[in-house]
Amino acid sequence: MWRTVLKGCRVEPGQRMVVLSGSSSNQDSVENAIHAGREIGAIVDQVIAPLPSGPKQVSPWGNLAPYHVSALGGDRAIIEKLKAADIVIDLIGMDRGGEQKEIQAAGTRVLLVREPPGTLQRFVSTSEDKQRVLSAADRLRIAKTMHVTSAAGSDLTVKLGEYPLLIQYGLADEKGRWDHWPSALVASWPNEGSATGTIVLDKGDVILPFKDYVRTAIRLTIRDGYITQIDGEFDADFLREYMEMFDDREAFAVSHVGWGLSPLARWTALGLFDKAQIHGMDARSFLGSFMFSTGPNDDAGGSRDTYCHIDMPMRRCTIALDGEVVVDAGRLVSH
Ligand SMILES: [Fe+2]
Repeated sequence: MWRTVLKGCRVEPGQRMVVLSGSSSNQDSVENAIHAGREIGAIVDQVIAPLPSGPKQVSPWGNLAPYHVSALGGDRAIIEKLKAADIVIDLIGMDRGGEQKEIQAAGTRVLLVREPPGTLQRFVSTSEDKQRVLSAADRLRIAKTMHVTSAAGSDLTVKLGEYPLLIQYGLADEKGRWDHWPSALVASWPNEGSATGTIVLDKGDVILPFKDYVRTAIRLTIRDGYITQIDGEFDADFLREYMEMFDDREAFAVSHVGWGLSPLARWTALGLFDKAQIHGMDARSFLGSFMFSTGPNDDAGGSRDTYCHIDMPMRRCTIALDGEVVVDAGRLVSH
């Protein structure tokens, strides 16, 4: 599977490949990446990221939040080594902290891999997924409005066009491209202040970073780009209190919206692993899911920067772009 994905990322004999790992990396993935790269004929190095130094940020719920700390600790020798590589296999998640932007700008491809080997084996990036993602992106790119409805009561409208697309197909195959194996999804960010309506998270919908399924429906009232009310029972109380802990109005803003595009991704995966083992890429990618999210848009070039970011992959939604249905009650519509 590693050979397949590395070849999909256009790793070739003589290219420089760096496997970036840390204390949290899966050791099987470290070894598999190195061996597969060498089998292809790449010049493979391993870089072990230092433990973050300097003041540690503590998240409002008491856990250390490593994404607030630069993953590479500003170590110029490491940054320059990664910039000199053709591709970095990132087994730690360096996308927070700003260093990755400099590395990509140097032309280095970056493939993030954090799911356990069993998930990677089932959910290998394929050219079929890539084509499906790229054609969905072509449709989303020209959309002016997205309208999302569901039998559970969702009815959300957002205007589009102000921000770029998020396009993931699990292959870092272009100069400077970042991607995350496994994943298959497209999304964009609503025009400022445009998201209005209702989102009803139904039983079985997923909330990340909780890495859990909703058991009691949550009704989100959304006005002018922000969630203004959260109604429901236990799950609504939990979500509201979590978001309020950040003491940041921007936590309630609507962030990226889009849909999942891989038949290899499983809605059930989240329930089959220990939370510490997985990162929710199945939930973000399963075919025909709608992903609603909250919080920042600075990754897309907006000004909203908040530590509270929640992805909420949902089932059985209908997504229409300028009136054209692209997902019908959770089933992908092919055009
Ligand atoms: Fe997200």
